Amino acid sequence: MDKTMKVAVIGAGTMGIGIAQVAAHAGHSVLLFDSRKDAVQKALDGLRRTMDRLVEKGKFTTEQANGLVERITPASDLEQLHVAGLVIEAIIEDLGIKKKLFSDLEKIIASDTVLATNTSSLSVTAIAAACQHPERVVGLHFFNPAPILPLVEVVPGLVTAPELPTRMVDLMAAWGKVPVQCKDTPGFIVNRVARPFYGESIRIFEEGIADMPTIDAALKSVGFKMGPFELMDLIGNDINFTVTRTVWEAFFYDPRYKPSFTQQRQVESGRLGRKSGRGYYSYADGTTPPSPTADPQLSAEIAERVLAMLINEAVDALFWNVASAKDIDLAMTKGVNYPKGLLAWANEKGASHWLSVLEHLQLLTGEDRYRPSPLLRRAAETNFALA
Ligand SMILES: NC(=O)c1ccc[n+]([C@@H]2O[C@H](COP(=O)([O-])OP(=O)(O)OC[C@H]3O[C@@H](n4cnc5c(N)ncnc54)[C@H](O)[C@@H]3O)[C@@H](O)[C@H]2O)c1
Repeated sequence: MDKTMKVAVIGAGTMGIGIAQVAAHAGHSVLLFDSRKDAVQKALDGLRRTMDRLVEKGKFTTEQANGLVERITPASDLEQLHVAGLVIEAIIEDLGIKKKLFSDLEKIIASDTVLATNTSSLSVTAIAAACQHPERVVGLHFFNPAPILPLVEVVPGLVTAPELPTRMVDLMAAWGKVPVQCKDTPGFIVNRVARPFYGESIRIFEEGIADMPTIDAALKSVGFKMGPFELMDLIGNDINFTVTRTVWEAFFYDPRYKPSFTQQRQVESGRLGRKSGRGYYSYADGTTPPSPTADPQLSAEIAERVLAMLINEAVDALFWNVASAKDIDLAMTKGVNYPKGLLAWANEKGASHWLSVLEHLQLLTGEDRYRPSPLLRRAAETNFALA
């Protein structure tokens, strides 16, 4: 797939315009389509402003910025996408609507056009099932903001053509992204492995062990750029709660992913985070952020508990062959800016240390939520390095 290949992006929302920018930056002509009338123009106006700022900052020349924006052409109907060699769908997260789109697209596009979905939480296999040729369908999961976060999860569905993931990995690398390949399982890598960062932190708060600023400070003290409550407020509690709930349901209600009442109540009350002016914290003008409790031992215990759950999740993803150890670590550092890969982090204290933290929590609570991955147990018994 070379630069002469035309790319079509469907959905001109947050992700669609970002993906269009990435493809145009890589030199492709891009067609951008949205079912909402003014959406494409609005998105292009926003991109123009972004590019102007990047020119002011000296990151692009005026020529480069103009060239990039001009390579993106609005498409007024779906039929215009027939010239595309790759179509990337970034529309509303609804299986029925995505399936209808993929089925309609197949009547328009060439027989060798690749159909990619940017879904975060749906099964690529289920979307592909709408197609006569499901072997041409693949997941390309970009992260928000797509032009800035390097990770792309490449996700073959059950019947995706065997050579397609490698072609997509090569293409994403050519676009300057960091591609990882993973199985079509709930949350892929990042949205699965990251769950305890939020879930276990909320649990620690619910148990009354520490307040939110103290938990945030504890995780920042071990290298995370933002604490979990600050980050949930940035992402939006509605979005974070939906991802948590979807992953939990998709795992057939595995207690490890169970959502919390704390977050549900935030959403119900409209405290969605920064975007609504109030989430776990207040963002009203003149509000001073609350101070954490200064207690180094408490801080270390909090970080250790959340980290043990994160490491267990990463090890379990490896156990179930969701992705390679290298890709699991890359995904967390390049998709959500973790300071280190979790498997590499596990090695620092060794698997038996993390196993004992989890066994202690399991003994204390009697809950399956804390069950150690069989691979963590094996690594502890045989003393092998996880990454
Ligand atoms: N926002 C994120 O952080 C993020 C990250 C990774 C992946 N995703 C996934 O990307 C997809 C898009 O998310 P988003 O946040 O950009 O959503 P968004 O709401 O910002 O944009 C979706 C766009 O799709 C358009 N649309 C809806 N139905 C359509 C149809 N049938 N045909 C054409 N256009 C249609 C809407 O008008 C809207 O402009 C979802 O599948 C989401 O799960 C989102």
